[in-house]
Amino acid sequence: MSKRIEVNNLDVYYDKFKAVEDVNMVIEPRTVTAFIGPSGCGKSTFLRTLNRMHEVIPKAWVDGEVLLDGNNLYGPGVDPVLVRRQVGMVFQRPNPFPTMSIRENVLAGLKLNNRSLSRSEADEVVERSLQGANLWNEVKDRLNLPGSGLSGGQQQRLCIARAIAVKPDVLLMDEPCSALDPISTLAIEDLIAELKQDYTIVIVTHNMQQASRVSDRTAFFNIAGTGKPGKLIEYDDTTTIFENPSQKDTEDYVSGRFG
Ligand SMILES: Nc1ncnc2c1ncn2[C@@H]1O[C@H](COP(=O)(O)OP(=O)(O)OP(=O)(O)O)[C@@H](O)[C@H]1O
Ligand SMILES: [Mg+2]
Repeated sequence: MSKRIEVNNLDVYYDKFKAVEDVNMVIEPRTVTAFIGPSGCGKSTFLRTLNRMHEVIPKAWVDGEVLLDGNNLYGPGVDPVLVRRQVGMVFQRPNPFPTMSIRENVLAGLKLNNRSLSRSEADEVVERSLQGANLWNEVKDRLNLPGSGLSGGQQQRLCIARAIAVKPDVLLMDEPCSALDPISTLAIEDLIAELKQDYTIVIVTHNMQQASRVSDRTAFFNIAGTGKPGKLIEYDDTTTIFENPSQKDTEDYVSGRFG
């Protein structure tokens, strides 16, 4: 399931504004990669190019390649809907569909993908996904109640369950814990450590402890100034980035001496 991502010479634009410049990066399967860097340096923008969510924004476009196990996501004839099925995404604010039950939320991605499931197949997907997201025990007796009735941390795990229900190869997470309390944050971090056995995981975080706790590799992005494009400054094993980075900007950022 888990797949390798290779990014070659990627520039990311909003109309004429180049938001991210010339990213080259390889992300191995069954690893967690953290994207860190100051606000506005393009972490979310770049993350969204990894499942073609970027181009949902009017006039947004990219130049370059993103290969998933060797296949260019931006190749001619590639269907972005299928790409998003292979590369799932979890957002900063938990966003369960408010009118849907917990069960319907888990199945929402499959329904969008037009798969008709038997009742027993659907039950299986619901249980497997909620187990996978470490939420099953907390909700198994109230699957038909609204997803919006869960706590923030539970809602975020519900969104993770929804993302993994379609069996993606890659899971992208944009600051998935920023709206959560420390206990829920640790629950999500434990979950990420488990999910890594099956998925390639990329997480954007402003929390340095979180990056060092959950990730194997860390990418530091930075911008030279307003209106300039964000750049990948340094990408290495997480311990190297935090303990022995090769760039001074990286060291300043991870040690909190920044801006
Ligand atoms: N929809 C958009 N249209 C135009 N410009 C955008 C859009 N979204 C982001 N940008 C610009 O792209 C640049 C990178 O923004 P992005 O949201 O990727 O940064 P970020 O590193 O995720 O920041 P943060 O840490 O605050 O989330 C910024 O200059 C931002 O203003
Ligand atoms: Mg962001």
